[in-house]
Amino acid sequence: MKIKQFIIPFFIILFGFTSCTEKTTVAKKDLSSTDKTKSDAKMESFLDSLTKIMTLEEKIGQLTLMSTDWEKTGPTINENYKNLIKEGKVGNIFNAYSVKFTRELQQLAVENTRLKIPLLFGYDVIHGHRTIFPISLGESASWDLKAIENSARIAATEASAEGIHWTFAPMVDISRDARWGRSSEGAGEDVYLGSEIAKARVRGFQGDDLFATNTILACAKHYAAYGAPIAGRDYNTVDMSERELRTTYLPPFKATVDAGVSTFMTAFNDVNGVPASGNKYLLTDILREEWGFEGFVVTDYTSINELVPHGVAKDNKQAAEIALNAGVDMDMQGGAYMDYLKELIADGKVTEQQVTTAARKILALKYKLGLFSDPYRYCDETREKELLMTPEHLEAARDMARKSAVLLKNNNQTLPLSKDKKVALIGPLANDKYNIIGSWTAAGDRYTKPVTVLEGFKEKISNPANLLFTQGCEINSDNTSDFQNAINIAKKADVVVMVMGESEGMSGEAASRTNLDLPGNQKELLKAIKKLGKPIVLVLMNGRPLTLEWENENMDAILEAWFPGTMGGYAIADLIFGDANPSGKLTMTFPRNVGQIPIYYNVKNTGRPYELKGPEQRYRSRYLDVSNSPLYPFGYGLSYTTFKYANFAVDKKTYAFKETINISVTVTNTGTFKGEEIVQLYMRDMVASVTLPLKELKRFEKVMLKPNESKKITFTLTSDDLAFYTKDMSFKAEAGEFKLFVGTNSEALIETNFTLK
Ligand code: NOJ
Repeated sequence: MKIKQFIIPFFIILFGFTSCTEKTTVAKKDLSSTDKTKSDAKMESFLDSLTKIMTLEEKIGQLTLMSTDWEKTGPTINENYKNLIKEGKVGNIFNAYSVKFTRELQQLAVENTRLKIPLLFGYDVIHGHRTIFPISLGESASWDLKAIENSARIAATEASAEGIHWTFAPMVDISRDARWGRSSEGAGEDVYLGSEIAKARVRGFQGDDLFATNTILACAKHYAAYGAPIAGRDYNTVDMSERELRTTYLPPFKATVDAGVSTFMTAFNDVNGVPASGNKYLLTDILREEWGFEGFVVTDYTSINELVPHGVAKDNKQAAEIALNAGVDMDMQGGAYMDYLKELIADGKVTEQQVTTAARKILALKYKLGLFSDPYRYCDETREKELLMTPEHLEAARDMARKSAVLLKNNNQTLPLSKDKKVALIGPLANDKYNIIGSWTAAGDRYTKPVTVLEGFKEKISNPANLLFTQGCEINSDNTSDFQNAINIAKKADVVVMVMGESEGMSGEAASRTNLDLPGNQKELLKAIKKLGKPIVLVLMNGRPLTLEWENENMDAILEAWFPGTMGGYAIADLIFGDANPSGKLTMTFPRNVGQIPIYYNVKNTGRPYELKGPEQRYRSRYLDVSNSPLYPFGYGLSYTTFKYANFAVDKKTYAFKETINISVTVTNTGTFKGEEIVQLYMRDMVASVTLPLKELKRFEKVMLKPNESKKITFTLTSDDLAFYTKDMSFKAEAGEFKLFVGTNSEALIETNFTLK
């Protein structure tokens, strides 16, 4: 009782609670370094005082995260979460949003627990909160870091207006295996681009001031190597060399630490025999000691408990011991910390100090969010009313969807279409609101808000009688009952637009596939329409690269739209009718068939490279039945205009270590449309102490050019950009010959060279 009387004034003296109805404003602080030191010291002394008076149970409560029963994002739900909040056993909640519900739960914590420590609300705000942007893989195809940052900024603005403090994003797992359904959630296969996008997303979610009520904590997930499960099957074993782990899979995580990410989430998989959620090497040695990460680490959903089926813990109690000792601060959903940490301390398996240290990291972030000054500062009805799905947010989502789309084929300038043409619009995704926003759509509405392609086309076509529509088939079935209607309207049209692809649930978590063709009888319908001899434009919505050899041969134009989000239908119509020009480029290689997977651009040469020129070569690294080349390479994407590259040069032929390498190239728009090009710079180290890829992306720049306009693009590199893990695993550059390549995709490149001495 004494403590209770003390703690309320204690908070008020330090921070002053504001009332829950009082309007909170965004207090944008521009702290000088002295101010920052002062405020850090104030926080540290607050945390010292608080952790001193907290009981062990109260600290363990801070280490526990539970889902509400609003949504299921994993196999279990704890119906008892409200009582656990009241008892102080659960200090953090996910799958709750809206001012009403988060306030209700916050009140349970603040009004019932001894120390009134506020709850932290987390949620999967992945590609938008209410305004849904294209899926993350789609956004990555924009290569537009500002637009990607802005998308995360808008997601944070909307989520925070509904009481959310923390998103489980960005997912920064590199993926080179399209069978893996979660490829849709990342930024593709490349380590440099993936790292740049990871930083942009962290900046977008967190802004530059966590105290502002429109910023939220970001979470780099899934640490680590979750994107490389054997055979592309979700949650499967990961076994890779230290060199590959550090070269390809860890850098985007490191990039998020450099960008100031607040939290990390462990992966479900094991890495070289040790499950990520009990992996001290990853969680402590690398993350904290090498990289200096100071935030907290949460597990993925019940992944402490999963140490048991992994076979490294005999029961949940031992699993909790392994996880805490490895460096896991917060237990998501499994309750193993809640149930066993006290006993484990009594048994001498872990220490109270470890629990205190973990709790302090979590409390520090609650402090930085301002929750101790006002636990309800993110519960503001006015913000909730004003900030969701605003016209600006919707316009940004439409723009992002335009930027994300990749034009894969455009024979004889089939696209853009004239608005006067008679168009037959066919396909299971042509008028589908539910699927167009993809998976992981937070609080996004799937039923009324999304704009379909049919709705988008209606806004463009000059004469409404010229737009004919039928669904034609379903996404994944053998029902042919609408085939004839589709054939009939196609016969009447000048051009057929087919909108096909996957359902939203065919990618995302637990959505691995071994067949990446268009599902169901969609290809059959395409074949039936093809027989009519009309020009066909195929618009694709899907969450990963598909196998499209037949489509590539037989369609006149193909536009990859991914799952483009709430405004997808408008954005697709903008592109199809030429009000916007496609500029997206693939961030994951499209294979010819599933047998080529994993397939990615930055392969090594091998001792027996396959040469395309010359006589048939038997004993070479190749397949007997299919070429080594992909259907569409990394970085590929067409435009309604064309670009020419010339004058590619370095300013010197020999550079010393640390000297700046100045690179330039002139890009010209040689077509008739204004358009944006993504200029890509790759590099190859010709001879090194270990084998290295034939090319690696080093820089890129997006440039908008009018017809006939030229621009000189410059890039700079130093020897730091040439570094790699050498034979003894030190990260450095080696002297020698280098080649540089520049161009419109990872295969169409011109080259130059230099020496590092
Ligand atoms: C499991 C997923 O792997 C993870 O990405 C997500 O954040 C959590 N569930 C919470 O929903």
